[in-house]
Amino acid sequence: MFGMRNVPLLLLLLMQLLRAGSALDNGLALTPPMGWMSWQRFRCITDCDTYPDECISEQLFRRSADLLVSEGYADVGYEYVIIDDCWLEWNRDNMTNKLVPDRKRFPRGLNVLADHIHNKGLKFGLYQDFGTKTCAGYPGVIDHMALDAETFAKWDVDYVKLDGCNANVSDMAAGYPEFGRLLNETGRPMVYSCSWPAYQSEFGEQPHFESLKRHCNLWRNWDDIDDSFESVMEIVDYFAKNQDSMQPHAGPGHWNDPDMLILGNYGLSYDQSKVQMAIWAVLAAPLIMSNDLAKVRPEIKEILQNRDVIAVNQDPLGIQGKRLLMKQNIEVWRRPIEPKINGEYSYAIAFVSRRVDGSPFPISFTFKELSLFNDNIGYIVQDLFDKNNNLGVFRNESQFKTRVIPNGVNFYKFTAL
Ligand code: GLA
Repeated sequence: MFGMRNVPLLLLLLMQLLRAGSALDNGLALTPPMGWMSWQRFRCITDCDTYPDECISEQLFRRSADLLVSEGYADVGYEYVIIDDCWLEWNRDNMTNKLVPDRKRFPRGLNVLADHIHNKGLKFGLYQDFGTKTCAGYPGVIDHMALDAETFAKWDVDYVKLDGCNANVSDMAAGYPEFGRLLNETGRPMVYSCSWPAYQSEFGEQPHFESLKRHCNLWRNWDDIDDSFESVMEIVDYFAKNQDSMQPHAGPGHWNDPDMLILGNYGLSYDQSKVQMAIWAVLAAPLIMSNDLAKVRPEIKEILQNRDVIAVNQDPLGIQGKRLLMKQNIEVWRRPIEPKINGEYSYAIAFVSRRVDGSPFPISFTFKELSLFNDNIGYIVQDLFDKNNNLGVFRNESQFKTRVIPNGVNFYKFTAL
């Protein structure tokens, strides 16, 4: 049927088939995923008798899905409700080898929960681990990858976080892509979050960014976040220190992940909450909150739901920002965003203070220092945390002046004219 003439066509078809089989290419996460995840706030609380509102159970995820909608988070883009560790029985089903959700805490199985989440217009995420066991010791996927991928699809999962405890890091280069391929083969589109590079960096290895980009929608680069400003800033420093190797690999469909938003918990002040939100927006980071949505104070909710800041995070160009410079302990974080006019980007610029001397610190930067080259025509500058604070048009400016409070941030959009 196929003569010699068709050999190039056949080769092309074969190449396309191979590519479809090996790359993730699922069309998902074209902007950084947004949602809510249990780990940081609820960890591995499994005692539902003592902590009925906090234990990892169907109830917690139903309630969080309801609150995402009723508290207005869904309206601004938070979408995925993700079960982290500690949802499983200690053993697989001994007849079928299938994973079994904890019978007491998820008595009706996961499909009922998935239906509830979907009926709310949201999406359903689930944690698992590449190794023999999850980080908390529940069964991992390693010997049952195909079965587990199919099971996730049958449970109507839309997002998989695959952790890397209890595994050999050397197996991950083949294993993570393989699980992504198996997810793809189910035919159900699932966002694939890989923790592989976090384990590589723990062992001092350079992450395989080219492979991550091909096989994962997002990947955890480094250590877990904890509920403190120190923890947030340690992660921020890791991202700044490694930005030249990491930044080029982020883009629509594939993102670096500095871990969950901890706003609304115990550890951050009001202004430190703005710092995390601003830097996560500049980093094009997934905005996955982990908090008790019933207890987030209104002023923190306002930060989490700030549409202008979220628009920076979700900018369609998908270019990850960088720490541009540090001067007198004020850091300048800058991200190119739309609109791009005559070849000049607009920018979101965060001035982050690492200072602790008690008064607001006045500082100025030349446009050259800020690498802003549209100064002839100019920029409109808007305060992203204060809609009423429109700074007006800046052009031919020698200096941009700002005044930042200790541990605080001033976050502006410079729209190119
Ligand atoms: C690891 C991950 C965390 C969380 C826990 C669960 O530490 O990095 O995000 O998923 O495991 O045990």
